[in-house]
Amino acid sequence: MTVAILADIHSNLEALTVVLDHMESRGISRIVCLGDIIGYGPNPRECLQLLYRSEVAIMGNHEEAVMFYGEDFNPKARASLEWTKDQLNSTEHDRTENYDLWNFLGTMQQVVEDGDTMYTHGSPRVPTREYVVPADIRNREKMQGIFDLFQRVCFIGHSHVPHIYTSDMKHASPESLKDAIDLRKLGDRKALINTGSVGQPRDGDPRTSYATFDGDIVRFFRLEYDVQKTVDKIYATEGLPNFLADRLLVGR
Ligand SMILES: [Fe+2]
Repeated sequence: MTVAILADIHSNLEALTVVLDHMESRGISRIVCLGDIIGYGPNPRECLQLLYRSEVAIMGNHEEAVMFYGEDFNPKARASLEWTKDQLNSTEHDRTENYDLWNFLGTMQQVVEDGDTMYTHGSPRVPTREYVVPADIRNREKMQGIFDLFQRVCFIGHSHVPHIYTSDMKHASPESLKDAIDLRKLGDRKALINTGSVGQPRDGDPRTSYATFDGDIVRFFRLEYDVQKTVDKIYATEGLPNFLADRLLVGR
């Protein structure tokens, strides 16, 4: 059965709603969430609540930071972290509703394996922290170390750049593969796949990004959403730096 794989939602309710509607219009109801539901954006509570139903919920560095400590957060990320924490503890909401939010965070796992498929946030080596970006394909030691840790395919988020890396040290953007890859055609080669970011794309394309996976074929989708609405909400929120809105408009 096909799953929808969603990563790096970052409290962007407008983008998440468009993705949920799109997957449902394609008859897909199963959700794998690769982490960073929260952080940066204006709707952390709503995004967590919409994703309670995820079959797999991976912990991102932003979830880890609200629950523990955001060691390597820069000042802007830290400001959004503190604001997000306040939202999750908001006394304007029912206490049990807040407990549900924190309980959901508490259920998140760093790595989930389902048969020969692995799901994590950053990389199988350092699940909540390590970034994999296209330039890493030249770092054979790093990439080999990562490929050694999974069997066939590993889905990741964290860098916010949708991309496909294969164990023969090749890489490709989804567009260059016409937005789909059939793993059966890879033979013995393994694939490390970043499905892109739902709520804060950083590949220069502001449209929301997610993928579906039926066990063999991965399909990537980019969809327009009401970016301006999210931007206006961030501008109107004192605790969130305007920079976090501006970057959504350009996908950086
Ligand atoms: Fe992220």
